[in-house]
Amino acid sequence: MIAREIIDDIVARNDIESVISSYVTLKRAGSNMNGLCPFHSERTPSFTVFPNTQSFYCFGCNAGGSVITFIEKAENLDYVGAVEFLAARAGVSIPQDGRRAQPGEIPRRRIFDMNLAAAKFFRECLFDPALGGEGMRYLMENRRLSPATIKHFGLGFAPNSFSALHDHMRRLGYTDEELIKGFLCGKSQKTGRAYDYFRNRVMFPIIDTSGNIVAFGGRVMDDSKPKYLNSSDTPGFKKSRHLFALNFARNHATESMILCEGYMDVIALHAAGFENAVATLGTAITSEQARIFAKYTKKVIISYDSDEAGQRAANKAMQLLGEVGLEVRVLRVPDAKDPDEYIRKYGADKFRRVVEGSRSGFQYKLDNILAKYDLTQPEDKIRASNECCALISGYHSGVEREVYISQVAKQLSLPVDVLKNQVDMSLRRRIREKKAQEQRGAQASIRNVGDRINPDAIKDVQAAAAEETILGLMLIYPEYRSAAADGSEGLTSQDFFTAFGRRAFEAIVAAHESPEGFSAPALEQSFTPDEVGRLQRMEQGRRALSENGPSVFREAIATLKRAMSQRADRENEDVVSGIASILARKGKK
Ligand code: CTP
Ligand code: MN
Repeated sequence: MIAREIIDDIVARNDIESVISSYVTLKRAGSNMNGLCPFHSERTPSFTVFPNTQSFYCFGCNAGGSVITFIEKAENLDYVGAVEFLAARAGVSIPQDGRRAQPGEIPRRRIFDMNLAAAKFFRECLFDPALGGEGMRYLMENRRLSPATIKHFGLGFAPNSFSALHDHMRRLGYTDEELIKGFLCGKSQKTGRAYDYFRNRVMFPIIDTSGNIVAFGGRVMDDSKPKYLNSSDTPGFKKSRHLFALNFARNHATESMILCEGYMDVIALHAAGFENAVATLGTAITSEQARIFAKYTKKVIISYDSDEAGQRAANKAMQLLGEVGLEVRVLRVPDAKDPDEYIRKYGADKFRRVVEGSRSGFQYKLDNILAKYDLTQPEDKIRASNECCALISGYHSGVEREVYISQVAKQLSLPVDVLKNQVDMSLRRRIREKKAQEQRGAQASIRNVGDRINPDAIKDVQAAAAEETILGLMLIYPEYRSAAADGSEGLTSQDFFTAFGRRAFEAIVAAHESPEGFSAPALEQSFTPDEVGRLQRMEQGRRALSENGPSVFREAIATLKRAMSQRADRENEDVVSGIASILARKGKK
């Protein structure tokens, strides 16, 4: 647990409005601020920041909490990591005894230090002809990299040995456990000993935007498999939320960024002067990564491999990047398997022209549709027109649809009106489907179906609502916390029938009775971000209502107690009828 005065200090130094402003464009709405939620995709803002209570809540996806929970979610950190992040942002340090790592967990800082030491080792090996001559020849001769580029990216070489790195790191004081947990070493099934995970590979360090080495990729120098080995996710590293070379590209990203598939593409592009290039880490792009792009740039140029897999991946990337409001363009790299090979064959100037000729996402998809059909055949033309209209109906802006309709009309030589009708039909169908889907979702949530946070709620919806009322009031008003703590309303944790409600009640009362008193950001330490969002929903539920007086509190308590005794009655009945049926059966014999 983090000491309370540290939490209070960090929260006081990080005004929620200014922290969130660097993730979300906020507009003033009365005393609050509104914006598009960074945690789900939406077009009308339901994400709200409340400066008065220093909290946030999304009415769309129910994410909510203090600035600490916001950073947990936005930066994908745990509570302690988020507090450290905010401490660094405010330029203060947390005393080491102020935090406690999870048992068995290696602190992030320790993993980063260990990775840095390993990267230095790999680099020394690469530059040592006896150890890394083969790696250096591969990078310079086969891949045409200059020594400056090799140094810039901190490339290295892992020697062909099961113990070179291990022995070196042990000398520096790192334990086998740390090396294994940090994915620098594997653990032998037979002997249980640690051995070097990366062997006889050129090494690519993966660096986050704070300059920490968070992971490694290692490539073989021939055609053997697997081509790459990568660090798996660790407490300090999640593939899905990093981009290779973002540490450099973020400084060249104002206008646009280039998204590639491979490390080698990015390195070749940077060397050729395209320093806004990044790549995902061997996985398809995620919505988290799309949001990272949105944070740094306006436009993303997708530059994937020209094979079929690359083109399929481009479609997915287009969708995710479009959803976060980015302008998307797609490159077709002719006569080369990827951007790296293209630059090696034709040079940087020609690649620049390919970038300038990049197509809009729409044009790209349109070309893909048209390429499938022989437009001189009437049936093909009808099918093509159907597909095009379905594509256009997926765009939300009427202006966009208008522009695309006239473009398709020209390319298919069909009248604009006809296409317009077809798009309208397709649009209406989409809206109908969306409404039906929303209705299903709403009904499920009314019945508390599939409630992962509070799975017990479905067993008694009315009692669950009463629990929410009580907890919402306690979260907002100190007088209800006092009443709950001193028992003056006869309420105890035993009155709560859901496990989550009981736990929340006990935590709030304990916080109230602690010497420092109740504080929402400190309370969050005992809950997951999803659970914090639920508590926030209870609070917002009460704030939306004008009547929050003692009678509301008492009534909710009465409802809970009534529900409890009804459940007890039902259980008794069950037992009685169970006995009755046994007796009845016996009687028959
Ligand atoms: N990748 C991986 N594991 C593999 C193959 C690929 O993790 N077995 C990831 C790497 O991040 C790689 C990216 O997918 O950079 C793209 O793969 P590919 O195009 O095959 O690799 P390149 O880096 O372009 O390598 P090269 O040009 O040397 O073939
Ligand atoms: Mn490649």
